[in-house]
Amino acid sequence: MIRRQIEQRIQTATLAILPDADAASVLIRPCQDSKFGDYQCNALMALAKARKLNPRQLATDVLAKLDVAEWCERVEIAGAGFLNFHLSKAAIATALQSAARDEYRFFRKTDHPRTIVIDFSSPNIAKPMHIGHIRSTILGDCLARTLRLLGHRVITDNHIGDWGTQFGKLIVGWKTDLNRTALDTDAIAEMERLYKLVNARCDADPTVIESARKELVNLQEGDADNLSIWREMIALSQKQFDTIYGRLGVRFDHTYGESFYNPRLKSVVEDLRASDIVRESEGAQVVFFDDIPSLKDHPAIVQKRDGGANYTTTDLATIEFRLRTWGPDEVVYVTDGRQQLHFQQLFSIFRRWHSNTQMRLAHVWFGSILGDDGKPFKTRSGETVKLADLLDEAEERALKAVQEKNPDLPQETQREIARIVGLGAVKYADLLPNRQSDYVFSWDKMLALQGNTAPYLLYAYTRVQSIFRKVEFVRSQTSSLQLAAPEELALARHLLNYGMVIEAVAEEYRPNYLCNYLYELAGHFARFYEGCPVLKASESERDSRLLLCHLTAHVLRQGLELLGIEVVDQM
Ligand code: ARG
Repeated sequence: MIRRQIEQRIQTATLAILPDADAASVLIRPCQDSKFGDYQCNALMALAKARKLNPRQLATDVLAKLDVAEWCERVEIAGAGFLNFHLSKAAIATALQSAARDEYRFFRKTDHPRTIVIDFSSPNIAKPMHIGHIRSTILGDCLARTLRLLGHRVITDNHIGDWGTQFGKLIVGWKTDLNRTALDTDAIAEMERLYKLVNARCDADPTVIESARKELVNLQEGDADNLSIWREMIALSQKQFDTIYGRLGVRFDHTYGESFYNPRLKSVVEDLRASDIVRESEGAQVVFFDDIPSLKDHPAIVQKRDGGANYTTTDLATIEFRLRTWGPDEVVYVTDGRQQLHFQQLFSIFRRWHSNTQMRLAHVWFGSILGDDGKPFKTRSGETVKLADLLDEAEERALKAVQEKNPDLPQETQREIARIVGLGAVKYADLLPNRQSDYVFSWDKMLALQGNTAPYLLYAYTRVQSIFRKVEFVRSQTSSLQLAAPEELALARHLLNYGMVIEAVAEEYRPNYLCNYLYELAGHFARFYEGCPVLKASESERDSRLLLCHLTAHVLRQGLELLGIEVVDQM
């Protein structure tokens, strides 16, 4: 962890000059352009500005107290007063050698493990999981994996939508029009059909609305028949969700659905009333946010006029349960950007209600997936794309490519490669863009072997692995990295930044940092592989290069694993 060590030294040097400075703010970052050096420190300028000091003078003074000769061949003052650090080759080599020895650790497990609840995926019962749920599932899973690797205690909870007014209509449909055979073949499609059927009838006939309302009330009051229909709908839906999670390699520690919180809803509202957080307004219980400009015009209802609870009430009970059960440092919600207002309201209400807790609440939101026409991605016939169909198509398309490229591989192997490449491509396409922007879904782009795609990275990994099929490499025998050629040095420098990248992913909840890092890594490796013969090199050179290959393979494999993508040894 050279970066941390340098950071400590510069903090000490800063305190020697400015004893009252906030040393923790003095951090170093990788240089944008490696020709300026490996790391850069901008923080002294802010310290100088706050104290009305000349920033270049402060940099000069700190530099005079700074001892980083162990790692840096030089440190320069640049621009308005930042510092550029140039690592020595020896320091880079030593750091990578020790990363290779010490369980391949390029990062340090956190000294401050946090308990983090991640609420993600959260599809709704009796409805197909659609393409919108894919982003939540893939992003949430990647964040869980990354935080766990860094040593945090992660608890994943799938907050499925298993309660709500839709069950009135669904039960009416179930009782009047259920087709058992269709239910056995595709339960969710059949439930969807029933819902649409009753919904259409409601438009034409008010008595249907009335019967849906009655069925809902009966369900809420614990009617045995309705409860058992409701339970069957949950079990059937969960089965289909589980198939998809199995394919995606995603698992949850808990699946407390919304209904789990029903017994608590009344007391949540009473609590809020007792603390003067809610006010009655037109018969409903409402929270107003007069002190928060962005929410001033958006009061939140926590109890409807008919006494019923809603999404907000349930989410309040959910936070309280999580607080009581796991005492987390943080709860992270991964959903669509359209729920931003909901979470702003929710977090504000919770802060007033439990003003003494330090627990952080984060809404990690994302944009939409668009079709070529710039509108939300739909099937040709204009319906929302079902996740299961999407995954099937990804595997089929990948299979065609594999068959063309490798016609001689056994069919079994072709299918397995296609599965990994197809699912990997979908996941990667989803994680690569800045999560808050919308992105255009394109099969051709995500499955391309060239460019920033999963197939490209998986292919790069197979190229590294192919070297190890030709030569036996014993890690413990390798003693030194030589880093003579510019391509070797560039690859080594990039490898060294891996730890910092995954820390940034975890801090900002942005897997795209890791995607771009791995893409650059594959590029550095390609240039190295072209410019520096491995198998034909002299013995010591060969061992050094094999170690670089080995570390590259490790980082590619682990990085892809964090993105939820499996690797293949051949493609
Ligand atoms: N079921 C919701 C939906 O499909 C997402 C739930 C997100 N989690 C939460 N605690 N509100 O939109």
